[in-house]
Amino acid sequence: MDRLNQVADEFKLQVIEDAAQAAGASWNDRKAGSIGTINAFSFYPTKNLSAFGEAGAVTTNHPAMAQHVRSLRNHGAKQRYYHEEIGWNSRMDAIQGAVLRVKMNYLPQWNQMRRQNAATYDRLFSTAGLTRVAAESKPPVVLLKTRPEAHHIYHQYVIRVKDREPLRDFLKERGVGTEIYYPVPLHLQQCFAYLGYAPGSLPEAEQAAKEVLALPMFAELEEGEQKHVVESIAQFYS
Ligand SMILES: Cc1ncc(COP(=O)(O)O)c(C=O)c1O
Repeated sequence: MDRLNQVADEFKLQVIEDAAQAAGASWNDRKAGSIGTINAFSFYPTKNLSAFGEAGAVTTNHPAMAQHVRSLRNHGAKQRYYHEEIGWNSRMDAIQGAVLRVKMNYLPQWNQMRRQNAATYDRLFSTAGLTRVAAESKPPVVLLKTRPEAHHIYHQYVIRVKDREPLRDFLKERGVGTEIYYPVPLHLQQCFAYLGYAPGSLPEAEQAAKEVLALPMFAELEEGEQKHVVESIAQFYS
């Protein structure tokens, strides 16, 4: 984010931050959702701070943008029934707000439990010898590294793996659910085809899309369950 903000300053651009998976995370002690000019959160039920249904929020310190977003969420009207532009009905339901208001109090504790679970996975993987760099070949599992400036809240615990599809099937047979975030990088989505990016134009993103695998992660995950996940992965590669 530091580098992106530098580029944005240099070219007089604004950074729109996507903090959908990062409620409670921070970079250099700055909270996710406060680093860009304007920032989006999702409180969809799968998120680490989640409502009972669809919900989200936008944060900004920019007064004009704040006013604009408030108007857009309300059919483009600052004053009721006077529409200055076309907006949406994106007002959060009161019931979602009520749920979030209670759950927000638990977020630091739940994030801490996720961080603990991530440390357990790291330990189990290295004990299982899956991440050791063999002399000739890449290890079957690559754990993601976290920079010291980052306070990671592990909305997902993502690893990079060899032979991902057969591994997923193998894990599914053993009752381990996994997910791929995300199978198609943005520049190859059909809706952005008009931008003209061909496969190969962003090789790192494309390689990541082929290798990433999110393992079960939630606050209440138990060490025994994590052992089952890692042992099953070890069994697949043995
Ligand atoms: C990183 C990221 N950004 C944005 C979104 C979109 O969230 P929503 O569907 O609630 O608008 C998601 C949802 O999965 C996400 O993970």
